[in-house]
Amino acid sequence: MLDASRRWRGDGKSIGLVPTMGALHAGHLSLVDLARRENDLVVASVFVNPIQFAPGEDFERYPRDPIRDAELLEQSGVDAIYRPSVEAMYPPEARTRVHVSGVSEPLEGVARPGHFEGVATVVSKLLIAVAPDRAYFGQKDAQQVAVVKRLVRDLDLGVEIRVGPTVREADGVALSSRNVYLSAEERSAAASLCAALRMAADAYAAGERDPDRLRSVLRSRLEAEPLAVVDYAEVVDPGTFRGPGTLAVLAVRIGRTRLIDNHDLSLEFPG
Ligand code: PAJ
Repeated sequence: MLDASRRWRGDGKSIGLVPTMGALHAGHLSLVDLARRENDLVVASVFVNPIQFAPGEDFERYPRDPIRDAELLEQSGVDAIYRPSVEAMYPPEARTRVHVSGVSEPLEGVARPGHFEGVATVVSKLLIAVAPDRAYFGQKDAQQVAVVKRLVRDLDLGVEIRVGPTVREADGVALSSRNVYLSAEERSAAASLCAALRMAADAYAAGERDPDRLRSVLRSRLEAEPLAVVDYAEVVDPGTFRGPGTLAVLAVRIGRTRLIDNHDLSLEFPG
């Protein structure tokens, strides 16, 4: 455990951890705010985790801005930033990976082989290093939330997983560190994801329950956007990420950038 955590725990203080890969935006900072409301002390981790990127993904070009990140975290009142090096996290002799089966397999699991093993491994290591009472994750990455919840239960990690709502731009586009890759034209096309979620939520509110029809509402709105290439558009159960369910989940490629978003159709789409 980190020395600071040990000391704080000894003083009887509660600790909230917000794991991030940096390139911080208002979505990350909303998790810091939530953590500050619920804990005496907040630790944010900043670590671009190489093992959750498949070969050919954007690990090398992933946006990194440690100075700005530190400023934003200090302004938002975090008590400590945990920024381990790749060498410290994964020394060459390391041979252990954490694999969560089941919920990690469909959808993102198919599209990004090894991704959730990388996430489960790094989240385990961060939770062990910081030993927080609560850890904060965004609904934006809904399948990641389900994988982390499973991991924490299965390994008895004894941390409460708290989920913050997706923070969106004025036009509904979910904030993402990857939005910086989008050209102006692609940024407009990105609005097709939240537009599709909104249309499906409207159809659900009007009484539509047929999963195939809800899926075609999603697909037809996405396919109306010439720059969007649909990776998947499904309506699933939020615990298993298989159908049937009410969680609409999307992965769409716009140019070279892959975007994901989701919304529980039984709830009104915000905004
Ligand atoms: P990263 O993409 O940096 O995201 C860190 C946290 O911020 C995640 O829990 C993510 O769901 C949340 N987040 C991202 N965009 C959000 C938005 N628009 N609204 C609300 N929350 C948002 O997710 C990761 O990093 C990594 O996989 C990590 C968990 C740190 C493990 O490496």
